[in-house]
Amino acid sequence: MSQERQHLLSLFTLLVIVLVLIRNAIGQRRSFSMRPHVVLIVADDLGWNDVSWNNPDIKMPNLERLARGGVILNQSYVQPVCSPSRTAFMTGYFPYHVGRQNSYIHRFQPSGVYLNYTFLPEKLKQLGYSTHVIGKWHLGYCNWSYTPTFRGFDSFFGFYLGAEEYYTHRSGYDGQNYLDLRNNTKPATEYGGVYSTNLFSTVTTKLISRLNPRIPTFLYLPFQAVHSPLEVPQKYLDMHKNIEDVNRRKYSGMISALDEAVGNITTALKKYGFYSNSVIGFTTDNGGQIQFGGNNWPLRGNKGTLWEGGTRGPAFVHSPLLNRKGFVTNNPFKLLQG
Ligand SMILES: *[C@@H]1O[C@H](CO)[C@@H](O)[C@H](O)[C@H]1NC(C)=O
Ligand SMILES: *[C@@H]1O[C@H](CO)[C@@H](O)[C@H](O)[C@H]1NC(C)=O
Ligand SMILES: *[C@@H]1O[C@H](CO)[C@@H](O)[C@H](O)[C@H]1NC(C)=O
Ligand SMILES: *[C@@H]1O[C@H](CO)[C@@H](O)[C@H](O)[C@H]1NC(C)=O
Ligand SMILES: *[C@@H]1O[C@H](CO)[C@@H](O)[C@H](O)[C@H]1NC(C)=O
Repeated sequence: MSQERQHLLSLFTLLVIVLVLIRNAIGQRRSFSMRPHVVLIVADDLGWNDVSWNNPDIKMPNLERLARGGVILNQSYVQPVCSPSRTAFMTGYFPYHVGRQNSYIHRFQPSGVYLNYTFLPEKLKQLGYSTHVIGKWHLGYCNWSYTPTFRGFDSFFGFYLGAEEYYTHRSGYDGQNYLDLRNNTKPATEYGGVYSTNLFSTVTTKLISRLNPRIPTFLYLPFQAVHSPLEVPQKYLDMHKNIEDVNRRKYSGMISALDEAVGNITTALKKYGFYSNSVIGFTTDNGGQIQFGGNNWPLRGNKGTLWEGGTRGPAFVHSPLLNRKGFVTNNPFKLLQG
């Protein structure tokens, strides 16, 4: 028992907090007739030193506002690479308990998260939630049964693998070149040239405008940003003219686009009546990739390593429902006693 508790403490902080908040909201806050909306935003390869609350040189006004007005999780740990972390977000298990600890899921790899493990949206559906994912899946696609709309999500818009190009939405390496963008199960062919951060934010805000705020909603928003390739619209690049290193300049622009997307989504949550009854979680999937502009200073290591630079992820929870907010916690369970 205590061992299990430790696992939760060290690894699934975010998931646990979200679930406990839901339970608390149901159990204690009788004034809320409805379960809270849950919005889980995941950045890709965002390093420890790539967020404004750890590095004042980073300009991310929207994320900063959400983080400072919520609870910054100063000891939130993720896996060193993508698919294992996402497996944990969806199953609540340590990836090595479900056979997904090793690496990300490679293209054409006939594998995914085993179907005998229930995903979070499946559980939430049992509680009456409407469930949607926009962005990166990377949890298997070799058989329809591994894909989002077969694992508890009412809708999916995004891509199955990783490291696609931001404008073409095509896989551009390994000598392969094919479209990896889907609207539910169908290829989405009409978005060539649209930068993915803008695309996902637009699709999300449109979806929010159509959803009913009286139905509890789970939005899982795993952005493509700020993973390589380093591609960014000029508008965001121009915001970082002072940065000499060209990779870092592009990467910082990509962060600015992500921040604007989060701002737009927050505005939509407010405009359409979701925000006041919502819990917003934010995390990276793993540490920054230094080779492509990321930075984990002063933590040692990189994405793909077990050092803190690979596994200690910037994260926060923001919610108008929290009793205590506006602080940094080094002990996630303090939040739950609040
Ligand atoms: C967050 O963690 C860092 C690194 O371990 C530590 O230096 C810092 O004091 C912590 N911040 C707060 C507010 O506790
Ligand atoms: C789930 O399925 C996998 C693959 O068949 C198997 O190795 C694993 O033991 C199963 N886990 C549980 C909890 O049944
Ligand atoms: C896909 O997965 C389902 C469920 O496990 C299985 O019944 C089906 O045979 C699989 N299809 C293929 C083509 O492998
Ligand atoms: C996805 O497909 C549906 C049905 O064709 C369509 O109504 C919707 O606009 C599409 N979504 C996007 C983002 O293209
Ligand atoms: C945010 O919304 C504004 C106004 O609609 C739009 O111009 C901008 O492109 C959006 N940003 C992103 C990242 O989607």
